[in-house]
Amino acid sequence: MKKRILTGITTTGTPHIGNYLGAIKPALKEAENYDESFYFLADYHAIIKNSNGHEVSESVKNVALAWLASGLDVDKSFFYRQSDIPEIIELSWILNCVTAKGLMNRSHAYKAATSNNKADEDKGITMGLFSYPVLMAADILMFNATHIPVGADQIQHLEMTRDIAARFNHIYKKTFELPEAIIQSKKDTVPGIDGQKMSKSYGNIIPLLSTENQLKKAIAKIVTNSLEPGVPKDSSNCTLFKLYKYFANNEMIEEFENHYKEGISWGDAKNKLFDVVNNEMMPVREKYKSLENDKNLLNDLLKEGSKKVRPIAQEMLSSIRDIVGIKKIS
Ligand code: TRP
Repeated sequence: MKKRILTGITTTGTPHIGNYLGAIKPALKEAENYDESFYFLADYHAIIKNSNGHEVSESVKNVALAWLASGLDVDKSFFYRQSDIPEIIELSWILNCVTAKGLMNRSHAYKAATSNNKADEDKGITMGLFSYPVLMAADILMFNATHIPVGADQIQHLEMTRDIAARFNHIYKKTFELPEAIIQSKKDTVPGIDGQKMSKSYGNIIPLLSTENQLKKAIAKIVTNSLEPGVPKDSSNCTLFKLYKYFANNEMIEEFENHYKEGISWGDAKNKLFDVVNNEMMPVREKYKSLENDKNLLNDLLKEGSKKVRPIAQEMLSSIRDIVGIKKIS
């Protein structure tokens, strides 16, 4: 059986360094170990949380550009927009019909969204949010993907996908492979400028596609303690140091650690961090600019992507329809 890796990126917001280090880069690297790789822009997922149509479509553009600029090779992988494959929605409905409501009740994402509700437990909850894990299962099972790289927050969704697949297989017949999660470890959480996990909702991001100047300013804002230059510093719990490690090799990291022991000033440490980040981001930035200026290119690439992917989905859906009885009357 082919080893097929698949991952989706919800298109809300503008990509930041945390997405790049925590998701894009590892997923592209991981793909080297598989026969086929599927990357898609999860815009059906985006409309669950974002009802601003302009923001959603802008984000589709920016997230696509970020992946392409970071080195995604469309000839060696399947790169597509979720909404270009409407078969996914039909599969999602069919899966809804075998998914236990109780299973969805236990979803962390749903529980978190209701945790502050009092009298009306389901205040503000849409069916989209509630059945989000079913849509995610459809994304994965449609292609019988075998390996799914995800962050730790998505582990439960993968378990639900396996549950749903197993239930379908049990009720009908063996149709779906049970996919495995490839989990990025918690210790790899990329810190934002305030030291918390980098996230748009915390307002602590370093944008991926910033100019040199913007990058410098963002790095200057990273929170440190107030130790004076010349005073030895502890690198182990330092946001600057954590970020530096993502961009440097072992030798450089060791050297930076020595600078800390020797009492490097925070200004100098920030300059060193800027240099390594900027070095890696320069080609990404250049590629992004050239893609961004070619308006048709992105549409063409997505069209090509759907041309490659849609027949696979159509074939799969056709056999699933057959199994559940949506077929020609005989
Ligand atoms: N829910 C995922 C997230 O927010 C994105 C996603 C949608 C996904 N469908 C997927 C990830 C399928 C992996 C596989 O991060």
